[in-house]
Amino acid sequence: MKSKALPRTERVAESGSPHIGRWTPQKLGVLGIVASIILLLSVQGGMVAAIILLSKGFPGLGPLATACCVLVGTILFLTRRRWLQALGLGINLAGGVYPNVTTPFFYSSVMNPQTFGGGGLVHMLSVLPSVALIVVCYVASWVVVVRNYQVTPDRRAWFSGACWFVVGIFLSLVPISMVNGGVSYYIEQILPLLLTLVIVAGGSALLVRYSQVMLRRSFWFAGVSCATVGIVLSLLFLGAISPLPPAAALSFEPLQIPHINPGPGVPRAINMGMPSGTISVNQLQTPTNTGAHVDHFTLTAEAATLTLNNGVKMPAWTFNGTAPGPVLRVKQGDLVDVKLVNHLPFGVSIHWHGINLANAADGVAGLTQDAVKPGQTYEYRFIPPDAGTYWYHSHQFSDAETSNGLFGILIVDPATPSPVHVDVDTQVALHTWTDANGQAIYTMDTADSTGDATLSAAGALIRRAKPGQWVRLRIVNTNETPSGRPELVTLVGARFQVISLDGHDLNNPGWLQNTPLPIGSAQRYDILFQIPTKGSVGLVMTGDTDPNTPISYRNAPAMLFTPLSNVDIRQGMLPKTLPGVGKWFDLTTYGSPTTASITPSSHFDIEYTMTLGFQQMGLSLGRPAPVYTINGKVAPYTDMLMVKEGQLVELHIVNTTDLFHPIHIHGHTFTVLSKNGHPLTGSPVHVDTILIGPHETWDVAFLANNPGLWMLHCHNFQHADFGMDMMVNYDGVYTPYTIGTDSGNFPD
Ligand code: C2O
Ligand code: CU
Repeated sequence: MKSKALPRTERVAESGSPHIGRWTPQKLGVLGIVASIILLLSVQGGMVAAIILLSKGFPGLGPLATACCVLVGTILFLTRRRWLQALGLGINLAGGVYPNVTTPFFYSSVMNPQTFGGGGLVHMLSVLPSVALIVVCYVASWVVVVRNYQVTPDRRAWFSGACWFVVGIFLSLVPISMVNGGVSYYIEQILPLLLTLVIVAGGSALLVRYSQVMLRRSFWFAGVSCATVGIVLSLLFLGAISPLPPAAALSFEPLQIPHINPGPGVPRAINMGMPSGTISVNQLQTPTNTGAHVDHFTLTAEAATLTLNNGVKMPAWTFNGTAPGPVLRVKQGDLVDVKLVNHLPFGVSIHWHGINLANAADGVAGLTQDAVKPGQTYEYRFIPPDAGTYWYHSHQFSDAETSNGLFGILIVDPATPSPVHVDVDTQVALHTWTDANGQAIYTMDTADSTGDATLSAAGALIRRAKPGQWVRLRIVNTNETPSGRPELVTLVGARFQVISLDGHDLNNPGWLQNTPLPIGSAQRYDILFQIPTKGSVGLVMTGDTDPNTPISYRNAPAMLFTPLSNVDIRQGMLPKTLPGVGKWFDLTTYGSPTTASITPSSHFDIEYTMTLGFQQMGLSLGRPAPVYTINGKVAPYTDMLMVKEGQLVELHIVNTTDLFHPIHIHGHTFTVLSKNGHPLTGSPVHVDTILIGPHETWDVAFLANNPGLWMLHCHNFQHADFGMDMMVNYDGVYTPYTIGTDSGNFPD
């Protein structure tokens, strides 16, 4: 800075503009140099991190792309040619700043600093400086460009304003990229942040402008204003490190009763059956006189307050006062007789997920029954034909009702004992609850993630198991994660085998060590392991707070297998450092091949393509919202697949979206044929829910051997609620029930 010279801008005004061309090198200044150095350093860290992530099997090139954008942007900035600088800033914004400020962590910390449970000091400190630094550097670079822009002070302010306008536009795009976006999300979450930024930006623009006009020390004022932005953002973050309020102080709003009002676009009575059919779903019953052993159960739907392991109270709708509801354990071939009693103030039903039962007992409101009204009872009677791990959940407003607790695990033991030796046979439900602040609480049964991250007794579910004992653990994902990606879980302390998927055994399963199991909503993984002679074994999960970088497991919630009674898991029960998240378990290459009745070379009577799509703005049951489509349509208006008994059906499922879709068929079992055109090389795989990753294509097949009206839908409940459902209808089957406001039946 030459102290005697007039600021450049005034020189411009007085002397009639010495022409500065597009390619004239501009001054970078200390500010610009410091900003560039920091950006270049952080980009190197970013590159290394991205490469490590990729080598560990991270799906997607996002982190690398981010690092590359920042690198290219910074190099362009360093050219000191103002047009290239402007371009560089745009690239930096798109690739570097935008992904950083749109991570869920950022929002959660800013909006709910006191209650953000997933962060903790270490996580906070690891994220805060990088975000703050990038934002500060970015603003600093911007100031350099503004300063180099040779115009009058007035126009400079406009330019600065325009730049921040661009920031606003970028941030407005955030809801589009969020799975659970929408208008209300925007108002609650994005707008306050946007306002903060606009206020800070406006202040900075004023400072820059006045400093240049009056104080002739624009350089320093620009720096001060940038620092102010950084400090304000940092202060917003600081709240995140203050201690959590005591659990009892957390109060929860009463749960919203699910309902859909009549109105334009809302169906009154849609019949999903075959109009000219001659067989009613009510006739497709399990006969009562089979002579099979009968297992009787009563499940009462009732409101309850759940107490998670560390004392947090959670309002819930439950079966018999708990969620998960009681574990129902029956034998293959038994007649299962369940009486459902509804003590809730709205309709419910029970769907027996994965059981190939007679259609009348399938439990779908508006399809095989009316929702069971408050005070009423309903009887389900079915024979489970296959052994394995299953579960049950409401199929009336299944998104709201299942998420809020109307679910439980159903285990079918084989009629003839399985050859697998097991000493401890147990199960766990992975469920995500939402607290009053909209934060996700991850749980394993009642063990929860709100426990102290440094390991208190809270947050662990303890199971006794002695050294040398064999454990069969049935893991059920009873909920979707907020980001829509599968739950990632693994076992620490012992190697394990995946012996069964969705209740169907795998052939010759291999040993796995620390392998992350991607469990889509509604899927079940049965794993087998032996307790080592020393130490304990733990089941851990990644949680979902940072869906783009699931690189580490959390130590709460955890499930712990230990010989000790009275354990406090601080006593070194879980390893201090959990393994990194490596390459995901791949069901297409696991185990070894064996003969199967359905193979890619079978003759298929029907070949049907299901294209899974997403529309930013659509209409679902009268609600304008982002919608999830099958072949371009939204339920209940999706095309149905009509089949005849005995036909072999191939489904070609094409995912055109950036999301995971666990696709579930009622009453039938898929045989998995191929993924992205590659046939399976390991064990045959039979599942009722197949997880379709972003932009993947899977071929699956099923034998139409169970007449009825069956749903085929995404089991991310939110996706199902907003469109992603269709019907597989057997020719000639009709239903007396309807979906819509007349009956109040809304199965999703
Ligand atoms: Cu768990 Cu329609 O399904
Ligand atoms: Cu989906």
